[in-house]
Amino acid sequence: MATRWIIAGNNGQLGRALTRVLAGPGRKIVAAFDLPEVDIADPEAVAAVFADVGDPADFVVNAAAFTQVDRCETEREAAYRANAIGPKVLAEACVAAGSRLAHVSTDYVFRGDACEPYKEDDTPDPVSAYGATKREGESFVLAAAPDSLVVRTSWVFGEGRNFIGAIVGQGRARRDGSATGPLSVVDDQRGRPTYAEDLAGAIVGLLEQDCRGLYHVANAGVASWWDLARVTLDLAGFSDIEIDRARTADLDLPAPRPLWSVLDCSKVEARGVGLRNWQEAVRDYLESDLSPLAGQGVTQ
Ligand SMILES: NC(=O)c1ccc[n+]([C@@H]2O[C@H](COP(=O)([O-])OP(=O)(O)OC[C@H]3O[C@@H](n4cnc5c(N)ncnc54)[C@H](OP(=O)(O)O)[C@@H]3O)[C@@H](O)[C@H]2O)c1
Repeated sequence: MATRWIIAGNNGQLGRALTRVLAGPGRKIVAAFDLPEVDIADPEAVAAVFADVGDPADFVVNAAAFTQVDRCETEREAAYRANAIGPKVLAEACVAAGSRLAHVSTDYVFRGDACEPYKEDDTPDPVSAYGATKREGESFVLAAAPDSLVVRTSWVFGEGRNFIGAIVGQGRARRDGSATGPLSVVDDQRGRPTYAEDLAGAIVGLLEQDCRGLYHVANAGVASWWDLARVTLDLAGFSDIEIDRARTADLDLPAPRPLWSVLDCSKVEARGVGLRNWQEAVRDYLESDLSPLAGQGVTQ
């Protein structure tokens, strides 16, 4: 019999990827929701979703979050509601129904001043409102439903709005003459770009292996945003466009960024569901129907 799944946040990058991964045989999505229809922080709305599916779902994946890091600094209540209260409400609903929860968190729970990849048992010390609210969400989930899976990931790209799409847009603008000169991209933050499709596959794989607790899941290799922009422009046929190297401090952004955001993924690799190198994943993304280049082809 097929396993039964609920997806929270199904319109986001990860939610859409989960929808595709779970379309295969042996799995059935019994409910999927997002804002504005259902707010994960609204216990009554969440209870109604769980009631409507009849038999309890085997698995619930929370891909919903307030992910706009700078807005989280000024909209702290909304960030806390989506990133901390929402996961708690879902965890409590899962316990009541007997469903297993996978919750997704972030590299931003760490301070970002290390020089070795962060392991699952390293101490979180977030420097931004986004990171702090996501950390509270993790803690609430593991306190309410200790059997849950909590997956921390980083620098996600997939169907939807993301950094790669923005860089392709800047490349196009230089081609059509609406912008000129080199791009400027920060080169002093290091992390692991992660393809939502790969992440979704790993989350499903970990749940189906009955994994619980914290796991770091990101594509392999390390990049700066400059590296990711360079690979994107090269793959998109804009290799002649130059990119200046900027420093995070010079941007004066509302939210501080962790400069070192590299997650150690050896725990998930030991489970046999570790992810491939980020460059390969970026190429696949740009060649896919999900890409900001869809229909125009990758030129190299
Ligand atoms: N994106 C990244 O680079 C990144 C990095 C590390 C970790 N993560 C984590 O990975 C997960 C998936 O990220 P993503 O990139 O797929 O995010 P995303 O594209 O921003 O999608 C999140 C979805 O959740 C919805 N949402 C927000 N608040 C909600 C609420 N209270 N109730 C129901 N739905 C709500 C959003 O709706 P609206 O658009 O209407 O707000 C959006 O459709 C999140 O937990 C995120 O924190 C992401």
